[in-house]
Amino acid sequence: MKRSRIYEISIVTVLVLATIAIAVTTVVLVLRQEDELMRKDHSENLQLVQLIFRHGARTPTSQLPNDQYFNYTWPEGMGGLTTHGKEHMFKYGQLIRDRYHFYIENILSRNVIAQSSPVRRCLETTLAVLAGMMKPLKSQIWSSIFGLANEWQPIGVSTVEKDSAYLLGDSPLCPKVDQLDDMSELPETKQFLANNENFLQRLSNQTGLNVSGSKWRLVAAMYDSMVCEKDYFGDEYKQPEWVNKVGPDCMERLKAFNDFVFTVNKYYKAPYHRLTAGPFIKEMLLKMEETVNNAININNRKLYTYGTHDLVVSRVLAAFGFLKEQPRFGSGLIIELRSDEQNPNQSNVHLLYVNGTNNFDIYPLYLNESKTFSSYCSEIHCSLDNFTTSLQSFIPDDIKVECGVTTEKQ
Ligand SMILES: *[C@@H]1O[C@H](CO)[C@@H](O)[C@H](O)[C@H]1NC(C)=O
Ligand SMILES: *[C@@H]1O[C@H](CO)[C@@H](O)[C@H](O)[C@H]1NC(C)=O
Ligand SMILES: *[C@@H]1O[C@H](CO)[C@@H](O)[C@H](O)[C@H]1NC(C)=O
Ligand SMILES: *[C@@H]1O[C@H](CO)[C@@H](O)[C@H](O)[C@H]1NC(C)=O
Ligand SMILES: *[C@@H]1O[C@H](CO)[C@@H](O)[C@H](O)[C@H]1NC(C)=O
Ligand SMILES: *[C@@H]1O[C@H](CO)[C@@H](O)[C@H](O)[C@H]1NC(C)=O
Ligand SMILES: *[C@@H]1O[C@H](CO)[C@@H](O)[C@H](O)[C@H]1NC(C)=O
Repeated sequence: MKRSRIYEISIVTVLVLATIAIAVTTVVLVLRQEDELMRKDHSENLQLVQLIFRHGARTPTSQLPNDQYFNYTWPEGMGGLTTHGKEHMFKYGQLIRDRYHFYIENILSRNVIAQSSPVRRCLETTLAVLAGMMKPLKSQIWSSIFGLANEWQPIGVSTVEKDSAYLLGDSPLCPKVDQLDDMSELPETKQFLANNENFLQRLSNQTGLNVSGSKWRLVAAMYDSMVCEKDYFGDEYKQPEWVNKVGPDCMERLKAFNDFVFTVNKYYKAPYHRLTAGPFIKEMLLKMEETVNNAININNRKLYTYGTHDLVVSRVLAAFGFLKEQPRFGSGLIIELRSDEQNPNQSNVHLLYVNGTNNFDIYPLYLNESKTFSSYCSEIHCSLDNFTTSLQSFIPDDIKVECGVTTEKQ
């Protein structure tokens, strides 16, 4: 009798202990998982996130007669976002969701504010990014009938017509920029063309397309189309025969022409940056000012996205002093506003480059190593006040007046 009771008690004890052990293990595991997430997460001290990105992979916007795929009919049309481009940018949205997990899980969907260039590929890119980034939380599921409601929620995207797309368009109406943008007259351009004179002749000879003299910009367009076609056809891509005939340096030099066209604006001065990158810089600073001037809580926490073109991203990078190459598909910047760890009353700007490689390479840009910021910023990041001061000469007052489109302020 006694024995069996002791036996029962010990069974109960074992069960209780086992239950406790399981519970403790579970708690430890859950905590460890959260720990893992926290380490990956970049939400701490975060006050605002802004994303500017080039659209994803597209078909060529123009093709020259020497193009291998000159007669190909593109189902997406010329300059259309490709299926690969859609997938790539969806992935980018997911990556941002992971990176700012806690921030985004605590944001109202109406506070995700998406603006885009009016060009279709940029609008579609923005929709793909939002789909990846804003998978609905329980409270955001908008239907119990349609399975899609568990995966996707509609988020508005705004745009403006082409001529007045000063913020994100690639060709807003701005006669003054056309005057300043005289690439062929720059000493750097003359030097570059002189270094490539023989190549231009070889290229003209082999392609039967005269790209010498004033037509040298066609070489960049040639390369751009090849990049699109390579992305589009993958393993099935066929390089034109003239490439080998021109010589082993052909692809490298074609790329150099393309990068030159996209980086030449770093040789321009403040008035050019003010008219080209200025509208974005002004908007980006305004959103950060608004954030620090309001109490930050879950109801007004925001996220801004700006969908645009390589040209616009390269102009912003030129103004910031970080321009190195043509921004690849999906490349752009993340602009974070964070409260300072030592002094919570101070907000700092952290700038990150997003290299749109297959898996996206994200790395900080050192503000103290750019000539635009180094007079006021002594560290990688910079106080919002000093960041703003650094950019003062790039902030347009009335862009239409400064562009020479209207003479009076409305
Ligand atoms: C495109 O089609 C035209 C007319 O059929 C032909 O002359 C030309 O060689 C073709 N171009 C290419 C790159 O296939
Ligand atoms: C280009 O072609 C012309 C005539 O066909 C020839 O004289 C010249 O040497 C060629 N130039 C180069 C750089 O191949
Ligand atoms: C190529 O075009 C330039 C003007 O852009 C001209 O000076 C040159 O003679 C042309 N070359 C050929 C081989 O037609
Ligand atoms: C932050 O600002 C508040 C209100 O202006 C002030 O009371 C507080 O002392 C400041 N904190 C620091 C660390 O400067
Ligand atoms: C982007 O990534 C590619 C591939 O790794 C690299 O060649 C290129 O230099 C990178 N560009 C920038 C601006 O980081
Ligand atoms: C802002 O810039 C000024 C002038 O260079 C400098 O004295 C100050 O320390 C900077 N402030 C911060 C927070 O970096
Ligand atoms: C920029 O700041 C970082 C630390 O924030 C430092 O490691 C780096 O050496 C600085 N660069 C220059 C050029 O001062």
